[in-house]
Amino acid sequence: MPSRALATDSALHTPLCDLLGCRHPLMLAGMGGISRSDLVVAVSEAGGFGFLGMARESPALIRAELELVRSRTRALFGVSLVPAATPARLLREQLALCVELAVPVVGLFWDVDQEVVARLRAAGIVVVHQVGSAVEALLAQEAGAQLLIAQGVEAGGHVRGQKPLRQLLPEVLAVAHVPVAAAGGLVDGRDVARVLDQGAQAAVLGTVFVATQESYAHDYYKQRLVQARAEDAVLSEDFHLNWPSHARVRVLASSVTRGERGDSRASRLQVIGEESGRPVYLFGTDSPLRSTTGDFEAMALYAGQGVGRINQLEPAGRCLQRILGEAVAHWRLIHEDEMELSSPVCYAADVERDRNASLIVRLDELLAAERAGARVALRSLAESSDPVLRKVLDAMHRDAVRWCAMLMQAIRRLKGQPGMRTGAFYEQAMAVPDLHKRLALLNHGQNWVIRKLCELLVMVEDPGLRQELGDMQQAHENNQLRVASLLESQGRGPDMGLS
Ligand SMILES: Cc1cc2nc3c(=O)[nH]c(=O)nc-3n(C[C@H](O)[C@H](O)[C@H](O)COP(=O)(O)O)c2cc1C
Repeated sequence: MPSRALATDSALHTPLCDLLGCRHPLMLAGMGGISRSDLVVAVSEAGGFGFLGMARESPALIRAELELVRSRTRALFGVSLVPAATPARLLREQLALCVELAVPVVGLFWDVDQEVVARLRAAGIVVVHQVGSAVEALLAQEAGAQLLIAQGVEAGGHVRGQKPLRQLLPEVLAVAHVPVAAAGGLVDGRDVARVLDQGAQAAVLGTVFVATQESYAHDYYKQRLVQARAEDAVLSEDFHLNWPSHARVRVLASSVTRGERGDSRASRLQVIGEESGRPVYLFGTDSPLRSTTGDFEAMALYAGQGVGRINQLEPAGRCLQRILGEAVAHWRLIHEDEMELSSPVCYAADVERDRNASLIVRLDELLAAERAGARVALRSLAESSDPVLRKVLDAMHRDAVRWCAMLMQAIRRLKGQPGMRTGAFYEQAMAVPDLHKRLALLNHGQNWVIRKLCELLVMVEDPGLRQELGDMQQAHENNQLRVASLLESQGRGPDMGLS
């Protein structure tokens, strides 16, 4: 049995790798039907982290697949479940089995189920939750998820949110105090380097691993992926049987998505194939597996928007190594200047390092405060129906997201690791039930940030960072004025007795 290599031998190592016990920040998505033991073992042995896609599967199959993985690798792995799409009794059995077999990690998707998260956490299982919005990220995190996957609308399979990954990821990062991985349309090393640079701690890959030798997909499905163009991957609500209603999936366009097979809501159940002795229905969520027979064209051929860049079927380990190599090369390209700067070992470099260390501490303090601001604004937005208030809160949320992203990038440029803390201000502000009073408190918080920025600007020499921090200061001053005049216009004094 191969031994697990040291967890630090990856050029792109992140703290998430330590949490999951993998070498590289590359994760195989828990794709129902597709991510079975062969694929999980291949990905794990190549240093990535694999999820068995076990949504709606029987305890017998889960047990068998788990034993197969454990007989072939010592790597840690996860089991992926979808509580909202699983009958209650089956879900109870699946959870009991995960506990009995001491599954190290469970991945969850769709509605956040607090009880399920609590049950898994109580058994010592690491809980990962895939989310499609910042609000959902907060819910999952508050329920106890220890790692979030931000799923962009580009993703293959069931798609939870509406936003492209480049927009969603900073929003989730801004409110998360747990590590965040990114999913949706990622197929090569350039994609991976980009999301890592944005602050994700790993990339989650689905479609690209369907098109590998070890995936459990039928050859017909794999070939269709290799031939497809990006625009062939469309969103559809037509594959809906057994799932919460109006769940959208991204699939290759077909006779079903074009409406040529009739109205997916009105039709009676129609069998179009067979999978291990059970029927496969038209408009069902099954995709063609190695063991499926029937009318494959009308089945769900899940594919993300990156599908146009998948041109070959590869062994999964080789695929992962290729993506990793490309990602390291792109990472170096993005960070070339900083690497040159940091190489000479001399006294000047020591001084520089010390100065950077104290800068990092201050930037991190601001990051925690901005994260608190982003969370308060997002929460308050969800509570408010007043359009004027909502407009201001929305602008504050977007601003805070922007500054969180900027601060994280600045910290990484200084060779630091952005912290996960949310400032204590979050608890203080959320303890204030009146939204106007909370807004006034937020304004006090902005004041604090402005003061800290003034102190910081004196220390910063790098013109780029000076400019960014100056912009941040200006934006906070503008927001402060806007909030003060809103409170005044609504007959509330700017301080509301808070000072
Ligand atoms: C074939 C397929 C099946 C999927 N099944 C599941 C699933 O059972 N549970 C889940 O959480 N996500 C599932 N997903 C979504 C993935 O978790 C992930 O968000 C997606 O694959 C990322 O986008 P990409 O496919 O473009 O890489 C599936 C995706 C695909 C392509």
